[in-house]
Amino acid sequence: MRVTWITEDDAPPIVEYGTISGQQYPFSETGTTTSYSYLALYHSGNIHDAVIGPLRPSTTYYYRCSADRSREFSFRTPPPSLPFEFVIAGDLGQTGWTKTTLQHIAAADYDMLLLPGDLSYADFFQPRWDSYGRLVEPLASARPWMVTQGNHEIEKVPLLEPRAFKAYNARWRMPFDAGASPSRSNLYYSFDVADGAVHVVMLGSYADYEPGTAQHEWLQGDLAGIDRRKTSFVVALVHAPWYNSNKAHQGEGDGMRDAMEALLYGARVDAVFAGHVHAYERFTRVYKNREDLCGPVYVTIGDGGNREGLAEKYVDPQPKTSVFREASFGHGRLQVVNATHALWTWHRNDDDEPVVADQVWITSLVSNPACNK
Ligand SMILES: [Fe+2]
Repeated sequence: MRVTWITEDDAPPIVEYGTISGQQYPFSETGTTTSYSYLALYHSGNIHDAVIGPLRPSTTYYYRCSADRSREFSFRTPPPSLPFEFVIAGDLGQTGWTKTTLQHIAAADYDMLLLPGDLSYADFFQPRWDSYGRLVEPLASARPWMVTQGNHEIEKVPLLEPRAFKAYNARWRMPFDAGASPSRSNLYYSFDVADGAVHVVMLGSYADYEPGTAQHEWLQGDLAGIDRRKTSFVVALVHAPWYNSNKAHQGEGDGMRDAMEALLYGARVDAVFAGHVHAYERFTRVYKNREDLCGPVYVTIGDGGNREGLAEKYVDPQPKTSVFREASFGHGRLQVVNATHALWTWHRNDDDEPVVADQVWITSLVSNPACNK
């Protein structure tokens, strides 16, 4: 587990941890410290990260960081096998709506959070990255948060800040260089959970994706390396949706879809989750814009609570492939129950937590003989 934290003053990048709350921290790890400046005016605090472990699965660890040794945090490691529950929330931001979404997420247990881009909406104003960190800390310190980038993370300024993703890459370092299929960029990576029962592919909508590019080559290799006798479900995350019947951001995911859809289809990816459009939409199984029983289920879950508000206008008539669409804030949950069945649910902020606004059982494509000739 990578622990990331920021101190204003100089402090060593040390995490102390153990399985007993209180003063017992038998293990410790020293990591590294970085920082960055932005537009000459902003200087980040010391950004520390340390990878701790090996850790036991399904275990609560208590830990403290060098920032404030009197503060104890805890997290629970993911389970070693199915069932496994993901929370998926996109376009989170840091508004009152965001707070409601986070409250709903915290109200029910889960193993890992996946975020398909657009985190802080700092939008060049770097102190908002700090306030976002403080806002999500209670949740992000307690479960693994696995994120990929959105357009709001680019923060490139011609001549002055030519390097894109400066703050994002400094603050949200993901394990792109670890595991069985390392990539060379923090903007795309993959990992397994539940001893390989689920493979998660985090794609970069704002990294080059055409055939011949590093991301495309990496994705080909990553998908080719999956052993579907062991891996029941494969899910992918992108930011700009490949299928979208909302009037907002129409066509923005098409280039990436043209470049990569056949790869995901060939690997029998079960579901693709996107953000960017500030609404909820679920499609049936689709390939090349038509219903296809061996294609992925597509879901837009960009309704986390950003400051731009909801995207309320839809294309009429509703495409046949679009099963459910609604402009409300909320979050989703993917409960992978066993090797053949996963339950997807959408939780609308307007409702009490037990109310589910949309749900569907997703059966793994590898369990469908028609898709595995
Ligand atoms: Fe976006």
